[in-house]
Amino acid sequence: MVEAWHRPTKAIIDLNAIKENIKLEKKLLKKGQQLFAVVKANAYGHGLIPVAMAAQTAGVEGFCVAVIDEGLALRRAGLTKPILILGVNPAELAPLMAANHLSVAVDSLEFLKQSERLLHSEHLKLAVHLALDTGMSRIGFKTTVDLQNAVNFLRTHPAEFEFQGIFTHFATADAATDGYYQQQLKKFQQLLAVVNPLPPYVHVANSAASLWHQACGGNMIRFGISMYGLNPSGNVLAMPAPFKPALSLISQLVAVRVVNAGESVGYGKTYTAQKKEWIGTVPLGYADGWLRRMQGSKVLVNGKKCEIVGRVCMDQIMVRLPEQLPVGTKVTLIGSEGSLQITAQEVANYAQTIHYEVLCGISARVPREYID
Ligand SMILES: Cc1ncc(COP(=O)(O)O)c(C=O)c1O
Repeated sequence: MVEAWHRPTKAIIDLNAIKENIKLEKKLLKKGQQLFAVVKANAYGHGLIPVAMAAQTAGVEGFCVAVIDEGLALRRAGLTKPILILGVNPAELAPLMAANHLSVAVDSLEFLKQSERLLHSEHLKLAVHLALDTGMSRIGFKTTVDLQNAVNFLRTHPAEFEFQGIFTHFATADAATDGYYQQQLKKFQQLLAVVNPLPPYVHVANSAASLWHQACGGNMIRFGISMYGLNPSGNVLAMPAPFKPALSLISQLVAVRVVNAGESVGYGKTYTAQKKEWIGTVPLGYADGWLRRMQGSKVLVNGKKCEIVGRVCMDQIMVRLPEQLPVGTKVTLIGSEGSLQITAQEVANYAQTIHYEVLCGISARVPREYID
């Protein structure tokens, strides 16, 4: 997708906020715990390389990505810290990961057996984190027998594999009740009991677990959403420190017109003015990640909350203005203007989703501009 630099719609990323959030999180960690910045999905829409660079400056010990290509992009940008790929991959790609010093989540003996032959013939060594399925039913070993077989295979092939870590992922670390989280933790501890000695990294915590379940332990934190300043639970649990959102989404009015009583706005004629109204057009739409269901929500214009009227188009939205305003007036879709703000959480509430999806959904057409 072409990035639209000649348009006033931009995501402004405050790299200082990201660095401050990392510093806040580091203060919450126990001695010996390392912080890995989760920068998958274009750093949750904030921009992979600038965020990774800022996180490195703020002192993270490594990075987590979802897919090989994100890891390769970090290596190409010159980042040398450990990178863990959180998703599983086919054995044919083991040499590529090993050659680029990308550690990878593994959840099957077949992967180890198949990749051993390839790694052996290319004299490469792959760093492996064994994934344990303690209740997500997504990836991971479920039984002690399967886990032991994988551990034995790793230990009997030290030339091809470095057994670097073992981990699990919680389904409900951001919930108000902790019953299922406790069950998962117990299962993790039962599985871990058959691994002796343990690998260098043992990790369970995402942002939520690190904020609200510090007793879960582990020596590495996979720090995602709260690095970007957001509350993993939405509004369910209170944040223990003042993390600051790093992303604002802004634009400008590119057209302003009078609509008379009885005239309608947008596709499907879903909005009809009851009286004379001023309508402003903003150049952003569902192709930018501003979902169609945002019709009826508010944006900030000239210090006031203004409603999106009519359907969200692919590239434009129309807002009802309190008065005639000049073309070029700033519009804030996420962020603050004076004492008013619209948070990613509010957008998510309106769109009936979570703020993770709102941020990841801001498309590649929207340029990211960085403040540092
Ligand atoms: C395995 C794993 N660890 C850590 C994270 C980071 O989670 P959060 O952004 O909630 O901190 C994710 C995100 O989806 C994940 O899949």
